[in-house]
Amino acid sequence: MIGILRSFYLLALVLLLCFAGCVTVKHTPSPPRERYTEANALGMIRTSRGTLAPVYAPLAEQIVTDLNLREKEGVGIDLGSGPGTLILELCRHTRLHWINADINPHFFPYFYEQAQQRGFGHRVSAVFADACALPFRDNYADVIVSRGSFPFWQDKRRAFGEIYRVLKPGDVAYIGRGFSRNLPVATAKKIRGKQGRKMKYDVDKAANELRQIMKVLQIKEWEIHRPNPPGGDNVNYGLWIEFHKPKS
Ligand SMILES: C[S@@+](CC[C@H](N)C(=O)[O-])C[C@H]1O[C@@H](n2cnc3c(N)ncnc32)[C@H](O)[C@@H]1O
Repeated sequence: MIGILRSFYLLALVLLLCFAGCVTVKHTPSPPRERYTEANALGMIRTSRGTLAPVYAPLAEQIVTDLNLREKEGVGIDLGSGPGTLILELCRHTRLHWINADINPHFFPYFYEQAQQRGFGHRVSAVFADACALPFRDNYADVIVSRGSFPFWQDKRRAFGEIYRVLKPGDVAYIGRGFSRNLPVATAKKIRGKQGRKMKYDVDKAANELRQIMKVLQIKEWEIHRPNPPGGDNVNYGLWIEFHKPKS
């Protein structure tokens, strides 16, 4: 009898694992190896410590103030956080637990090491995630942010739909590329100068694409921000979209 019961439990366990496996495979497809390499991660880590280093602290300060995160509890996700520099700055000003959700897991050892060194090791996690099929349940995150990642998302409409799904009702996402409005113009100019032509893009076109996505997804509460500080008319500060999921 015990033998039969044991076999039954074993079979149930195997079926459960198979099912879990199917679900996992569906939500975490392997990224194309040639795109998300260690070399790729090391390159971005270098940029985050060099050219882009002045960007993260002011951006985190602005996000925390604008989204009212200082006293907020729960979980924040930085989608496509890469080296996780923005997360480490966000840790300094918030109590949230931050998840680095990125399609390239080669960033994660560096990210954990940096978090540990700054005393935030217990406040962060890293999860292999494709923006187009997020491995989080509905209504999971208390805030979702992302910098410089959305241009790479293969299906942006799907990805924004995923962000909306994972966001808790009543909470906010802040997704974009470029700089915050509090970054000094001289610094922004210097960064754009170093980046050269490869970082040129049409901000109007990108804004229209985001507007269209909000329309298709029937997201009602959103705003596009195009930072334009005094004296910064000729500098591309990028663009950001803030959207809210209403309380149900
Ligand atoms: C230009 S880097 C920006 C990294 C970081 N947010 C920053 O500002 O330093 C783009 C990041 O997006 C990630 N990424 C690209 N496609 C992605 C996807 N489909 N899902 C999640 N992350 C993605 C890359 O691995 C990379 O870390």
